[in-house]
Amino acid sequence: MYVCICHGITEQQIKESTVDGASSMKCLKTQLAIASTCGKCSHVAKMILDESLLALAEEAKAVA
Ligand code: FES
Repeated sequence: MYVCICHGITEQQIKESTVDGASSMKCLKTQLAIASTCGKCSHVAKMILDESLLALAEEAKAVA
C-alpha cells in the first residue's frame, strides 16, 4: 500500500527502514524523504513506524 503519494513510498519500505535501524520519523525522513513535501502522510507513517518498532521489540524479546 502506498503511504506517501508525493514520494511513492510504501508501507513495506517503512517497515524495511525500521529493520535497517530507523526508530523515529526524523530517521524515516532522512532515509526515505517521507512527509517532507505536503506532510499528509505523516500520521499514517508514524502509525506504521510504531507498529513496526513494536513488532521488532516483540521479536527480540521472543528470541532472548
Ligand atoms: S503524501 Fe507524503 S509528503 Fe505528501
